[in-house]
Amino acid sequence: MASHVKVEPIVHPEGSSISFGANISDIDLIDSSDADIEILAKAFYKHHVLVFEGQEHLSPRAQYEFTQRLNSTVTTSSRHKDQLNGKSFLLSPDLNTVPHQPQVQIIGNGFVREHEGAKNLKLRYPHHRSSHSTVIEDQNALNHTRFYRWHIDADLYGAPPPIATTILAVKLPKRRMQTIRYDDGTGDELVAPLGTIAFASGEAMYDLLSEEDKAFARSTRVEYAAHPYLWMASAKSHPTGLGLVSEGKELEDDELPPVDSTSIQVLPMCWRNPVTGRLALQVHASVARRLHLANGEVIDDLERVRRILYRLQRPGIAPQLVYTHDWEEGDFVIFHNRGLIHSVVGTLADDEVRIMRQCIIAGTEMPLGPDDLA
Ligand SMILES: [Fe+2]
Repeated sequence: MASHVKVEPIVHPEGSSISFGANISDIDLIDSSDADIEILAKAFYKHHVLVFEGQEHLSPRAQYEFTQRLNSTVTTSSRHKDQLNGKSFLLSPDLNTVPHQPQVQIIGNGFVREHEGAKNLKLRYPHHRSSHSTVIEDQNALNHTRFYRWHIDADLYGAPPPIATTILAVKLPKRRMQTIRYDDGTGDELVAPLGTIAFASGEAMYDLLSEEDKAFARSTRVEYAAHPYLWMASAKSHPTGLGLVSEGKELEDDELPPVDSTSIQVLPMCWRNPVTGRLALQVHASVARRLHLANGEVIDDLERVRRILYRLQRPGIAPQLVYTHDWEEGDFVIFHNRGLIHSVVGTLADDEVRIMRQCIIAGTEMPLGPDDLA
């Protein structure tokens, strides 16, 4: 059966240099055909953020099944296509999950008496106060905000990074705008809707580099820390949310649970888009531990590792390159976790209730590197 799926690139405001995002319509996510899914898979690798409006009826089970089906379709190696085992990927052990569909997490803000069988949820929207090296002064606390932490949804220890993350907006607080401050001396700011997710393209980030830096990025591999999120749990983020400041707060090896050396990931700094062939500078700087250079040198000095990564990545999160989705209830968003970095943004008051459901499934193979063919 022919597909009627419509893919329309998002028209970004004048002055913006954002080159990704598409609105998708004329598809039933619960009853989509193989032809529909093939079109979505192509659109996914081309546009990176796909927005479907009016999906409030999507059950947690339907979200999970769709996420699994899409992930299976966008997995490039046929060897792995049927191996997605539904193991949920958890960013943090205290995340709330849907009791009857534990691969789907409930995230948001405020007190929720009941949602999908989960009771008395005290959702806490991440606030930069708890994790940044400097904080916004109290008098501006609700109007000004920060990128909380730029990241890739991935364990980066053991399982390969997930490919597609899906998020459904169930309930949103009253819309208002906030100013995101970079607070890094540049004066950069970005006005964004409350409680948005910010996306920046790893492909644009790569394209912005000098030829010398591109060659460095193509030939360097990033080693991630063992038990990365425990390792850096006490360290503070840079005010831009891009990487951490170095204050010696990371755990020593003997303070971590036993390390399985085969789980440590050393990944290319650039990941190749398997459909378009483009390269993305794709690094989760907050959990990067070492850099392995082409000449065999290993940069072990954490402060230097972070300085190098920050210099390469910072141009890619300039205000005109960041997409902050203006959520409506019922919006279902799929994003390409191997071609974008993202961050939650916003400062919500306690009574601003926000409920979103998120599904992330670990990948079955490592990302393609610069030397792999698309
Ligand atoms: Fe995330």
